[in-house]
Amino acid sequence: MQKIVIRGGRALRGTVTVSGSKNAGLPLLFASLLTRERCTIHGLPRVADITTTLRLLEGLGVLVGDGEFATIVVEARTLTSSEAPYELVRTMRASFLALGPLVARTGHARVSTPGGCAIGSRPVDIHLAGFERLGARIRQTHGYVEAEASRLRGARIALDFPSVGATENLMMAATLADGTTLIENAAREPEIDDLAAALCKMGAKISGAGTSVIRIDGVRELGGFDHEVIPDRIEAGTLLLAGAITGGEVHVARARADHLDALVAKLEEAGVAVEARADGITVRGAALLAAADIRTSPYPGFPTDLQAQFMALMALGKGQSVITETIFENRFMHVQELVRMGADIRVDGKTAAVRGVAALSGAPVMATDLRASVCLVLAGLAAQNTTEVLRVYHLDRGYERLEEKLSTLGADIERVRA
Ligand code: UD1
Repeated sequence: MQKIVIRGGRALRGTVTVSGSKNAGLPLLFASLLTRERCTIHGLPRVADITTTLRLLEGLGVLVGDGEFATIVVEARTLTSSEAPYELVRTMRASFLALGPLVARTGHARVSTPGGCAIGSRPVDIHLAGFERLGARIRQTHGYVEAEASRLRGARIALDFPSVGATENLMMAATLADGTTLIENAAREPEIDDLAAALCKMGAKISGAGTSVIRIDGVRELGGFDHEVIPDRIEAGTLLLAGAITGGEVHVARARADHLDALVAKLEEAGVAVEARADGITVRGAALLAAADIRTSPYPGFPTDLQAQFMALMALGKGQSVITETIFENRFMHVQELVRMGADIRVDGKTAAVRGVAALSGAPVMATDLRASVCLVLAGLAAQNTTEVLRVYHLDRGYERLEEKLSTLGADIERVRA
């Protein structure tokens, strides 16, 4: 076991470069299942979720190139299995994205249901209702979902909620369906747009990705692709918040302002100076942080994946900030840990009232999920004395070389054996 030790109180300064997006990279890897041809993906981050996906793909018979993450080549020439096992799906819900490509390509898929996870129950009902609309026969037995269809049929699918995963899964499946599919109330996250761009390179006919109605005209066969993944907007937002919470000045190279509108608006409301340029975004921390309310919602709203980090900032804001989480039912697990560091936060259902304090004090704290763990790192950077963040494997699921990146900005942070 490892832990991260931070001696807080240093203002971060300098330039840091954001890595490729984990959440865009994962569906691109699953899209490779749709074709016999080779797919080349540039810029994948070296994080545990990507490694898990590569293992899952190998288990299905996909050939994975040498594993130099800068450029990964995957080739699903022959699939030897159509099953995504529990051991892998349980650690990463995105594994469920194997279902659409597998059933579309082979007519059969058997994928473990993801089960509950720390931040909420996260069912897959929206995915399954969509696959049934596409003509798949769905059976759920022994903790697995089995889908079958000799060829999927295009259909009009209205999603109950703009689920990111369901939109991706159904969009991939519909590329090889017979006829036209319309996904209504589709998720509009930039990762959907990026996936659609790669699918179009494969020969798919997709329009409307990035809007709430996506049209897919099915084709018989798809070819390979060569694609560079978009920069990680959540990592970028986290690094900007690291600059802001320490009152420093940080330039996040490759951060795309057009993907971070909601965060930028809230940073400015909190008094943080933000300068967006073509090559990235710079923040300059405020002498006195103001309170700002946030409400998470599907893109382009404020991302749930930045809620915990923004709460760490608000723990030091002047006045009261109200933070409402509408996407996941149990995504306030970082609150108790922040309170142990001296924050004044009260939770009532979906809402947390954060009353800013003059300073946080370092403490040993426990990471509970990916974004909660990085929120504690941010709090530790700003806190007095030493903070130890335990269970850092959560962090390693989605952040590439975080300590190294923060160190280059002047943070006193290291990873040690727990
Ligand atoms: C993706 C992101 C995750 C982010 C989330 C919301 C990836 C790999 N992960 O997760 O980082 O936090 O979007 O922006 O891209 N739901 C259902 N039934 C379903 C599907 C979803 O009820 O069939 C619910 C979920 O339980 C959750 C909400 O809808 O409460 C949002 O889920 P969804 O948009 O599907 O998120 P993911 O794709 O799992």
